[in-house]
This record gives sequence, structure tokens and C-alpha cells, in this order.
Amino acid sequence: MNSVASTAAATTPSHAKATAIFTCILAALAGLMFGLDIGVISGATDFIKADFAISDRTIEWIVSSMMIGAAAGALGAGWLSSSLGRKRSLVLGAILFVIGSVLCGVATNPETLIVARVILGLAIGIASFTAPLYLAEVAPERIRGAMISLYQLMITIGILVAFLSDLAFSYTGSWRWMLGIIAVPGALFLLGVLWLPDSPRWLMMKGRTKEAEDVLLKLRGNRGMVDHEMADIAESLQTPQRGWHLFQENSNFRRSVGLGVLLQVMQQLTGMNVMMYYAPRIFGTLGYDHESQLWFTAIVGLTNVLATFIAIGLVDRIGRKPILYAGFVVMTISLAIVGTMIHIGTTTRAEQYFTVGTLLVFIIGFAMSAGPLIWTLCSEVQPLKGRDFGIGVSTFTNWAMNWVVGNTFLTLVNGIGPGQTFWLYAAFNAVFIVLTFWLVPETKGVTLEDIERKLMHGKKLRDIGA
Ligand code: BGC
Repeated sequence: MNSVASTAAATTPSHAKATAIFTCILAALAGLMFGLDIGVISGATDFIKADFAISDRTIEWIVSSMMIGAAAGALGAGWLSSSLGRKRSLVLGAILFVIGSVLCGVATNPETLIVARVILGLAIGIASFTAPLYLAEVAPERIRGAMISLYQLMITIGILVAFLSDLAFSYTGSWRWMLGIIAVPGALFLLGVLWLPDSPRWLMMKGRTKEAEDVLLKLRGNRGMVDHEMADIAESLQTPQRGWHLFQENSNFRRSVGLGVLLQVMQQLTGMNVMMYYAPRIFGTLGYDHESQLWFTAIVGLTNVLATFIAIGLVDRIGRKPILYAGFVVMTISLAIVGTMIHIGTTTRAEQYFTVGTLLVFIIGFAMSAGPLIWTLCSEVQPLKGRDFGIGVSTFTNWAMNWVVGNTFLTLVNGIGPGQTFWLYAAFNAVFIVLTFWLVPETKGVTLEDIERKLMHGKKLRDIGA
């Protein structure tokens, strides 16, 4: 950040700071929907299967239709959030979320359930694209990293709440309540987003400068800072191309889009979602009974939430790259150990606890690093004129890879073996240490406009930040 902005930031009045933070918290609630959706299905599948008397294949379709919807939603969200605006896209996402979850709860056959999950997927595809974008555009630069991490915190809280609610409803086997109850937080989110201001950047893109100024004054409360930020936005708006055209014409933009794709491939291939979708089964492999499996799964959810605080505390202080290195190292080592333990077999109590503990260390490794930081980086590295497109492509990649991971784990376990599957993911994480060094920029304390300038001037990707 340059000296004008940092001086101004230091004098932001507390009521403006509070408004900005409240706005960010509300938008970050989109993450809660995301998490509820990821977490809710793992506990429901056994009951759905028994109720509808369907095969594992149909179950796979019910599970994965959500990710297909989300991938499609993420693609369309680029266009939506640029034409309708970020706020109205979030409203649309919230409405679809409520419709999808109610429909899941009342579905009378697997086909309806699949359609309902696609609608839910569309909702979080839109929300998972729009919320980080909105957050990056309204958060004061000094706390931008932490605010986007807040979004990840909401995802993890959503997952935890879903695990706990699954656990509670599992005693009566009420899968309809498991899936339907999430309409309630969805409706509250809808009320919240109706209150949000439009993103100042989007308003300026639409030529609504006066409104942008009003919003910024509310969020920053400091004339000097508002002028500075508006001048920065105006400058980056001068690039005349957009989205797909920019992608075709500008090789620098293609590099940032490629970086976003790579970052999301990295996030998913850490193997985190193997735990999110199959944790009970993995605990089963270690020798635990059904009830312990679900309790350990809840502990996984809680660990995921708590460790996200590490990222929130550190991201704007020590930066993105050191945390990513630490996370990938922790994940490589812990997965290698888990793979080895499973390979040699966990027979004693001590071995079982040790392996569960190591899996929790893996969760910590992800939650303190790649979980929040990949979303942060993806929203920071795209130039404004192509930001919708760039983040759309990376969010699409997130869901497409999520689908791949969710749909190959059991096949891998049956094909190459469970221990080897964990080693494979350990190897991926080791590769990501190198890729982080080679390609990932340090964006801590750099304005979005600075990042854009350096990218467009052809600097190496890892040098477009600090
Ligand atoms: C990822 C999700 C994952 C979640 C776990 C998110 O950042 O995108 O795929 O399930 O973290 O907390």
C-alpha cells in the first residue's frame, strides 16, 4: 500500500470500520451456505439409500449433482455479477438455496433429489463466486486478507454445523430434516444480503460514480482515502477489454487466469474433501464403530473451524506464501504418515489414536493455509476488467476438481489401496510446495490496482505482488 493510503487507513473512523466489517461478515455468510452443503450429505446417504432402495451409483449421482450444479453456477456467475451486480447475484443465490434445500427435504424420489441438489449447487456456485469477489471489493485493503479468510471460516462453520446436525438427526434417521433444515440459515442469509450495499467497484464499472462514492464514504469514512481508492479504480477501469475478449487478446490476463486455475487445482488435490465426504468411512478403516466414526467426524469439523483462525490471524501479518509453505509441508508429512499407518495396519488403540491425531494435523494444515488462502489469492490476482471471468474460471475449477476428488476416492482405494491413496495425496502436496515457490505471488499489503499494473506489465507471476 502506498503512503497516502496507509495514512488515510490509520484515520478511518470507527463507525466506518464497523460498517465495513459488518458488511464483510454478512457477505461472508455465503460461505456458511457453501459449508452446509458440503457437509450435509455425508451423514444422509445411508438413510436415503435405505429409504429409496437405490444403488451406490444413484447415491453417487445424488452426491455429485450438487458439484455439477455448483460448477455451472460458478461459470454463469461471472456474467450475472457483472450485469446484475454482485449484490443482486448474492440475493439470487440465496433464493435458489432456500428453494433447493426445501425441495431436498420434500423429495419423493431420487430424481427430484438430484434436481434439488443441482439447484442447491447452482446457488452455492453463484455465491462461492460472488462472495469472495464482493469481499475483495469492499474490504479495506489492510484487512482484505483477513476478511476473505472470514469467508473460509464461515465455510468451515457451515461444515461443522452440518456434521453436528447430521449426528443429531442420525439417531432418528431423518434425512429429510438433515437436508431441509438448512433452508432456515438460507432464509436468514437472504434477509441479510438484501441489506448489503452494492460494490463500489461494480458501480464505477457501470458509470455510477456518485453512488460508488457514497458507498465508499460509508465504508471508509475518510475523504482522502475515498478519493485515493476511486482514483485507483478509475485508472484500472481504463483498460477497454473485458472477460472472454480480454482472455483471447491479452496474454498477461491468460497468465492470471491460468494461475487461478492452478491455485484451485492445488487446493482440491490437497485431498481435503476426501475427509469432508468420506471421514466416517476412513475412521471405519482404522477400526472404529459407527458412533465413534460420527463423533470423530464432528471433531474433524471442529478442528477445521479452529485452525482457520490461525490463517485469519496471520494472513495480513506474515503474508500468504509463508503460510502456504507451512500448510503444504504439514499436509505432505501428515498424509505420508497416515498412508504408512494404514498400510501397515492399525491394530492397537495407541496406533488408532496416533493415526486419528495425524489426520487432525492434516486438517489443521489445510485449514490454516490452502483453505482460506487459495480463495484470497484467486480474488486478488485478476485484473478488474477480467476479474469476473477470471474468478469464474477459478471457482469453476474448484467445483470441477471437487467433483473429481469426490468421485475417485473410493475407486482409488479399491484400485491402488488405501495407504497408497494417501501417499498419492502426500505426493501432490509435496509438488505444491515447489509450485508455490515458483508461481505464487505474495499479495500481502499490495493494492489490487498495484497487482494489476504489475501483471499487465508482464512481470513474472511470482513477482506481481510485493
Ligand atoms: C474448499 C472446499 C472444502 C472446504 C473445507 C474450502 O476452501 O474450497 O472444497 O470443502 O474448504 O473447509
